Amino acid sequence: MITDRQLKEKWFKFFEEHGFKKIEGFSIIPENDPTVLFTTAGMHPLVPYLLGEKHPSGDKIYDVQRCIRTSDIDSVGDSSHLTFFEMLGNWTLGECDKTQMIKLSFEFLTSPKYLGIDKDKLAVTVFAGNDVAPRDEEAYNAWKECGIENIFFTSEDNWWALGGGVGPCGPDTEMFYDTGKPKCCENCSPSCDCGKYMEIWNDVFMQYVVDNAGEKAKKLSRPNIDTGMGLERTVAILNNAQSVYDSGCLKRVIDYINQFAKIKYDDHNAKRSYRVITDHLRSSTFILGDARGVVPSNVGQGYILRRFIRRAINCSRNIGFDCSLFANIVDIYVDEYGQDYADIKANRQFIKDEMLKEVNKFSKALEEGHKEFNKVINGIERHKEFAAKNGQVVENIINGKAAFRLYDTFGFPLELTEELAKEKGYSVDRAGFDEMFKAHQEKSRQATAGMFKGGLADTSNQSAFLHTATHLLLAGLQKMFGKQVVQKGSNITPERLRFDFNLDHKMTADEILEVENFVNDAIKRSLPVKCEVMSLEKAKETGAHGTFTNKYGEEVKVYSIGDVSKEICGGPHAENTSQLHHFKIIKEESSSSGIRRIKAILD
Ligand code: ALA
Repeated sequence: MITDRQLKEKWFKFFEEHGFKKIEGFSIIPENDPTVLFTTAGMHPLVPYLLGEKHPSGDKIYDVQRCIRTSDIDSVGDSSHLTFFEMLGNWTLGECDKTQMIKLSFEFLTSPKYLGIDKDKLAVTVFAGNDVAPRDEEAYNAWKECGIENIFFTSEDNWWALGGGVGPCGPDTEMFYDTGKPKCCENCSPSCDCGKYMEIWNDVFMQYVVDNAGEKAKKLSRPNIDTGMGLERTVAILNNAQSVYDSGCLKRVIDYINQFAKIKYDDHNAKRSYRVITDHLRSSTFILGDARGVVPSNVGQGYILRRFIRRAINCSRNIGFDCSLFANIVDIYVDEYGQDYADIKANRQFIKDEMLKEVNKFSKALEEGHKEFNKVINGIERHKEFAAKNGQVVENIINGKAAFRLYDTFGFPLELTEELAKEKGYSVDRAGFDEMFKAHQEKSRQATAGMFKGGLADTSNQSAFLHTATHLLLAGLQKMFGKQVVQKGSNITPERLRFDFNLDHKMTADEILEVENFVNDAIKRSLPVKCEVMSLEKAKETGAHGTFTNKYGEEVKVYSIGDVSKEICGGPHAENTSQLHHFKIIKEESSSSGIRRIKAILD
C-alpha cells in the first residue's frame, strides 16, 4: 500500500538525486491569463520559462501542481478521469535530451527503490510524425534500449500543446500501465478508451512554439522537456486498485457516502453518481478554498463551480444521499490536503458555508421546478378536457420539449420528471427529450470548446478590452503619482480587471476620480491601439514599459495606445479605445504592505 504522500516523497527524492530543484506549485486559478479558467497542467504557469526566461531556481526543476481539467467532466465516473488532480512535474529548461529523460522515467517507474513496476506491464506511445515534425526515432530507440516491448505510434495523441493551441508545444511520449484487462479488439492500443491501458506519465519534448492561434508551429531556439505524472492514477495502479476512486482519500469519501446513502456503491447503477460527487466536491473544495475567493455564479470560474456543486447535488438525489453532509466531505478533503495547501485549510468554514448556500439555492430552484411541473400537468389536463368534448383522446405524456425545459431552466434531472410523472399516471417522451438534449449539447459543446480551447470565446472581447483598460489605468496612475509606479500583479476575468501597484497610501476619492477621468478621456479620444514586434533592446530604447520584460524572450510585442501608453505585452487588446465605452473603479484597497489593489469594470 502506498499513499499520495509517499509517492510525492519518492518523486521529490528521485529528482533531487538527479540534480533537480523543488519549486512551489501555483494557484488553481491562473494569474495574468484571461484565456483559461484553471491551471490545467504543471507547465501552464511556467510558460515564460519555457519560452526562454531564466528560472530563479535554475534549469532543472520539479513540483507538484494542483490542476483542474473541465474538459474531462463527461468522463468522470470511469476508472481514471477526474476534474481535479495533482500532477507531479519536472522540467529541463533550455535543453532537450530525450534519451536521458526516457531513461530517467524508466528508472523511476521500474527501479525497486522507487516504483518497482514490472517493465512488461508498461506500454508507451511515441510520436509518429506529421507535417511539422518527423517521427520520433530517438524516443523509440531510447524505449527499445530500456527493453520496452509495447511501443505504439500516433501523431494526434502524441503532440502536446496548451488548450488554446498557442505557446510552447511538441511531440511527447506517454507511459501507460497495462491493467491486464483483455484487449477490446484486435487493434486495441493505449489510444482506445476501453480501460485496458491507463496513462500515468507524459514526457513532452517542447521543441516548437506557436506564436498566434492558427499559425504553424516553428522550432524553439531553446527547447525544453516538460513532464507530468498523474498522482492519483499512479497511486491507484501501485495499490492494485480498480480505479482512482478505490484508494486513498477518494476511497475514504466514497466509503463515507456509502455509509449514509440509500443506494449502495456496489449497485452497478450507483457507481457513477458516487464518483461524480466525490470528484466534483474535491474540485469545489479547491476552487472555493483558493485565496481569490471564487463563489458560485453564472460566469467564469464561478459558473464551473456552480456546475460542479449542482451535478453533485443531482447525483446525491440519485443515490439518496443528504446534501447537508457535503460539509463533512469538505472536512475529509481539508484534513487530507490542508497540510500541503494552506489556503484551503484557512478557508475551511468559508468552503462549507458557500457550498451549503449553493445547496439551498438549488433546492429552491427545484421547488420552482415542481411548480412548473404542476403547470405542465394542469395544461395537459385542460387540453384533455377540451379534446374530449370533440371526441378526441389526448394521452398522458409529457412531451420532450416540456421535459427539457424542466431540465434546462429548472435543473430537473429527467429521472425526477419521470418519477413525478409516474405518480400522476403520466409518462415522459424520452426520445423527444433526448433529441432536444442532443441538439442543445452540440450547441454547448461548441461554446465550451471555444471557452476552454480558444479561451473564453464569447467573453474574449471583453477580456481584451479590460486588458487595454489595464494599460490605460497604469498610464493614469503614473501620470498622477510618477513613473516609479509599476504593475505588481494583474488579473482579468470577463467582468472586471484587478490591478496591483506600488503606492505608499490609500488613494483619496479625488485621486480615484482623476485616474478614472484620465482613462475615460483616452476612451473618448478614440485612440488606436497598435502592436509592433521588435527586439527587447529596441523596445526598451523606445521607452516601452514592462515590469516583466525578461519573460518574453528576444522578440517582444509592444502595444501603444495613441500617445498615452506604450507597454511590452502579449495582448490581446481592443483595436480602438472607443470600444471600451466607460471605465469605472469599483474598489481601491490594500493588497499587501506598500501595494494597493484596484478593481475596475467597463460599463
Ligand atoms: N504538460 C504535460 C501534460 O500535461 C506533461 O501531460
